[in-house]
Amino acid sequence: MKKIVLAYSGGLDTSVLLKQFILDGYDVIALTADLGESDGTAGAGATDALQAVKQKALDLGASAALLVDAKERFIANFAYKALHANALYEGVYPLSAALSRPLIGELLVEAAHAHGAGTVAHGCTGKGNDQVRIELAVRSLDPKLVCRAPLREKPLSRPDAIEFAKANSVPVSSTSEKPYSVDANLWGRSIEAGVLEDPWTAPPQDAYAWTAAPQDYPSQAAELVITLQAGIPSMNGGRGANFVAELNALAGKHGVGRIDLVEDRVIGVKSREVYECPGSVTLIEAHKTLERLVLTRDELRFKAGADQKYGELVYDGLWTSPLRNALDAFNASSAMRLTGEVRVRLHHGKATVTGVRSPFALYEERLATYGHGDLFDHHAAAGFIALHGLPLELHAKSVHTALQPAS
Ligand code: ARG
Repeated sequence: MKKIVLAYSGGLDTSVLLKQFILDGYDVIALTADLGESDGTAGAGATDALQAVKQKALDLGASAALLVDAKERFIANFAYKALHANALYEGVYPLSAALSRPLIGELLVEAAHAHGAGTVAHGCTGKGNDQVRIELAVRSLDPKLVCRAPLREKPLSRPDAIEFAKANSVPVSSTSEKPYSVDANLWGRSIEAGVLEDPWTAPPQDAYAWTAAPQDYPSQAAELVITLQAGIPSMNGGRGANFVAELNALAGKHGVGRIDLVEDRVIGVKSREVYECPGSVTLIEAHKTLERLVLTRDELRFKAGADQKYGELVYDGLWTSPLRNALDAFNASSAMRLTGEVRVRLHHGKATVTGVRSPFALYEERLATYGHGDLFDHHAAAGFIALHGLPLELHAKSVHTALQPAS
């Protein structure tokens, strides 16, 4: 029997696909990745919800249902690499969904190899970014695997999906009629479709699940100290996936990380997306501030351009590209000095850095001070200005001479 590994979320679409593959004569292996959070359910609740997803796959007739705990792998190999690049697509989106897809691609390939399957499949439509990201990952890791995308091959309307489900004993829960399409993992939650498709419509309250609305902001600010050790963050000894989950909860309570973006999809259309990224937004802010204290001016200037490129590569599905790998090596070399502490204040929807220190700081108070104990050589500045401005002076003189009316 031909085997197929299907990326399975437990939702209506992938449940219908699972059943259809069985009817087409496939031996279906369902693969669900635990990336730390699930639709609307955070923390421990997400793990319980995912156990139910696994059971649902088996009930539908999958020969195996793999629930892979990929939380630490996601944080260490994907999210923190993006953190080192301060990766924000179009300046604001921390790429939560985009970072998870190449990992799902890796898991599909690993499961296919382990179970001797020649085909993998996903439930992305032909219109989004996620099909590109998963398929480019699969193709880079094993070009011989066939990758099926049934919803692209033959788009399925919601009423048709429900009709098929009812006729084939696929459970249709009342939540199948969700007002939005939601994707969530430790790096953030994305919400799209429904009324959000009109960029003039303000996101309704029910679009949000992780972040407090302004009327619910705590009046007291919270203060955190995030420690970085060679670029790897922790707080009060907590690290990895648990730490990021904790930060999501803490910063979310203060409404940090709401993003409303009309973005440019890989396939050329613009779409309106809303995000909640309390943890990643706070971490990127902290990381950027430590970089400003520790890195040289030239590193920072060069890195700003490289960081933007990094975000574009991740968004565009080019996670496995040699350029992204090379940028990782570049970031790793400066991250060696990113050790220190960053104090962050969470208040009224913002994560604001209020203090930073590091043994690698290039900041020197005795050079910066306007008070007593100034060690800066003020006289040296005169020679600097003379030489630094020499090209400008030569230019100004030549223009002046050239424009002199001939006498
Ligand atoms: N637009 C975002 C991205 O491309 C999020 C897409 C997530 N998918 C979803 N079904 N909401 O990275």
